[in-house]
Amino acid sequence: MRLLLSLGLLLSLLFLSGYIQVSHGHNITEILAEHPEFSTFNNYLTATHLAGEINRRKTITVLAVSNAGMAPLLAKHLTVSALKNVLSLHVLVDYFGAKNLHQLNGGTAASSSLFQATGTAPGTTGFVNITNHRAGRVSFSAEDVADSAPVNFVKSIEEISYDLAVIEISSVLSSPEAEAPTPAPAQVNITTLMSKKGCKTFADLLVATGDAEMTFESNVGGGLTVFCPIDRAMKAFMPKFKNLTADGKLSVLLYHGIPVYNSIQMLKSNNGVVNTLATDGTAKNYNFTVQNDGEVVTLKTTVMVATITGTLIDEDPLAVYMIDAVLEPRELFKPEKAKAPAPAPAAEAEAPTKSRKRHHASPPAPAGPEEAPAGDEKAANDENAAGGRACAEPWVAAATAVAVAAVMVA
Ligand SMILES: *[C@@H]1O[C@H](CO)[C@@H](O)[C@H](O)[C@H]1NC(C)=O
Ligand SMILES: *[C@@H]1O[C@H](CO)[C@@H](O)[C@H](O)[C@H]1NC(C)=O
Ligand SMILES: *[C@@H]1O[C@H](CO)[C@@H](O)[C@H](O)[C@H]1NC(C)=O
Ligand SMILES: *[C@@H]1O[C@H](CO)[C@@H](O)[C@H](O)[C@H]1NC(C)=O
Ligand SMILES: *[C@@H]1O[C@H](CO)[C@@H](O)[C@H](O)[C@H]1NC(C)=O
Repeated sequence: MRLLLSLGLLLSLLFLSGYIQVSHGHNITEILAEHPEFSTFNNYLTATHLAGEINRRKTITVLAVSNAGMAPLLAKHLTVSALKNVLSLHVLVDYFGAKNLHQLNGGTAASSSLFQATGTAPGTTGFVNITNHRAGRVSFSAEDVADSAPVNFVKSIEEISYDLAVIEISSVLSSPEAEAPTPAPAQVNITTLMSKKGCKTFADLLVATGDAEMTFESNVGGGLTVFCPIDRAMKAFMPKFKNLTADGKLSVLLYHGIPVYNSIQMLKSNNGVVNTLATDGTAKNYNFTVQNDGEVVTLKTTVMVATITGTLIDEDPLAVYMIDAVLEPRELFKPEKAKAPAPAPAAEAEAPTKSRKRHHASPPAPAGPEEAPAGDEKAANDENAAGGRACAEPWVAAATAVAVAAVMVA
């Protein structure tokens, strides 16, 4: 009797510890490691850095393929980035346990995959159709592939209710779009990319300033995250930029790069101080703080706050995000309040309504008279006309308003 009791206690402890571990997050590598028949799939999740992306997310379904099922895919000798696209089609950003699959509303569902979510999929090619057929058969297909051999649900491997489902499917989901060779991120010309997507002024400065461009390019291989200020913000900043010494100019530009790859998910979940390309390790200078508020990610120097308003590229090892203000390091700029009583900025700080009206602009930075609101609005309209950030507007405005309020309270 006593033996039985303690056995029960032991079992419930084991269950409890398992449960606690699970509630602190899942680790797809460890889950699949318990099933050697998926070792190839598991290895490639790690090699393509998809494992990290899966572990960071909640509400996700992994469609695992056995070693035998992986063989035809490997025989295609795809590049790592194409292989990553194909595998990311096997990670659905929704929860489908075995029970959900057999009880689909209306018998079908279209789920977005990581291929879609990372923005590399053209059109709707990153969606996966799920169909519940007669006699309990459930099939999967990439949305752009009409008549390929059916890929069927085989069995459930592990399910953590409404958090993570790992299920086996009979073979690899094929998609010509996913398998198409993509340029390796290392081959992306960062300045050309930025010029095309709304950060031309910043890109031109990188090319024109000493070895700034080379510093950025040479860091891509090891991982790089760039925050490029939109043209309007950069143009308003130019008088201040021209005032800096050659070293100051270079430092401000390098301050916009972090020598580590950060996906948008990582920025949303890891808050804290980060070093930049301008940081001198021994001096611990030129850092800023990444802080998220829900889906909004802000970058805070002690002088000002910028908000991420868009993604130009997010493909390990390179990420480039658009921000709504030029990052001003404390090493070169002073917060507005500590500044000499220049009449215009002081008045602005005391008039919250005016600041709110100018929500397109950066939070109170040491603005000079040349940054007149009228010109600002015109520039902002030009930006919208060009399709720059129209869709991101409402939440950016809200976030900036909050950021402005926070700065003013501080
Ligand atoms: C997941 O497990 C693998 C293998 O044990 C380990 O290398 C990796 O660091 C773990 N990842 C996280 C996020 O804990
Ligand atoms: C996937 O579903 C969509 C919408 O339900 C449909 O238009 C499309 O034809 C389907 N694709 C395949 C391959 O079944
Ligand atoms: C990127 O493109 C710009 C403009 O075409 C060019 O000046 C620069 O050398 C290119 N950078 C690299 C690393 O190829
Ligand atoms: C440039 O520097 C001068 C001298 O320090 C200063 O008076 C002026 O306000 C600065 N201009 C801008 C736009 O910061
Ligand atoms: C950030 O930079 C400041 C100097 O600007 C330095 O005092 C501080 O220690 C740095 N913080 C970290 C975490 O490196």
